[in-house]
Amino acid sequence: MSSIYCIINLLFKLFVESGATLHKLDLNFTNYEINPEIFYSLGRNELFFSRLQDLSLSLISDINTENVTVLLKILAKNATKINALKIDEFYSEYEPQLHHALICIIKSQEQLRQFSLFGGEYPTEFHGIISALESQKKSLQEVLITCCACSTEFKVLTNCKNLEILRIRNCDNLKILEASLSTLEIFNDLIDARNT
Ligand SMILES: *[C@@H]1O[C@H](CO)[C@@H](O)[C@H](O)[C@H]1NC(C)=O
Ligand SMILES: *[C@@H]1O[C@H](CO)[C@@H](O)[C@H](O)[C@H]1NC(C)=O
Ligand SMILES: *[C@@H]1O[C@H](CO)[C@@H](O)[C@H](O)[C@H]1NC(C)=O
Repeated sequence: MSSIYCIINLLFKLFVESGATLHKLDLNFTNYEINPEIFYSLGRNELFFSRLQDLSLSLISDINTENVTVLLKILAKNATKINALKIDEFYSEYEPQLHHALICIIKSQEQLRQFSLFGGEYPTEFHGIISALESQKKSLQEVLITCCACSTEFKVLTNCKNLEILRIRNCDNLKILEASLSTLEIFNDLIDARNT
């Protein structure tokens, strides 16, 4: 496994140092462990994340929080033009600094249009991550939430005036959302509420 990490990190470094600018990044931490040398390279090519439009993060439960948080903070600073953000394998039990870094990424966006969250083991607490979507209420058009237990944070979605598509799949505790759904209906939106 460590040789795979090594090759991925070498490729990552090569891309950064060649002066590339990314449009899409899909990081699955099941297959990847960051080498902090990458941070040094990123410091030398600040444009690398500057045009990122599509970011997917798969954050496994036994993640190496410290190094991942550093990378997420760099993304929050440098990638402010993300259109579509996908968070996979979300756990309520991450270290607080990881939740905080995710909030920073959401809040630093100029125009987030699509947001997807896939829970790992039915998270019940979102530590402000869903509430942070308030900052994107004008731009958000599409939200997909899968395998989560809805919390009061989900009510923020009713403030998203331009939301066209809301997909809630295999989620628990929909009562909280039902209380808000009547508000969503006003916008004549597609509500794909397949219950568990
Ligand atoms: C991440 O990688 C693992 C192992 O290859 C795979 O099982 C999992 O489905 C991947 N996650 C995503 C979101 O692609
Ligand atoms: C961060 O990555 C470095 C290099 O792989 C490693 O030595 C260090 O232990 C990692 N940090 C944590 C908290 O695991
Ligand atoms: C990009 O991130 C680096 C490291 O965090 C920071 O020093 C730099 O100012 C950022 N660049 C921009 C354009 O935000």
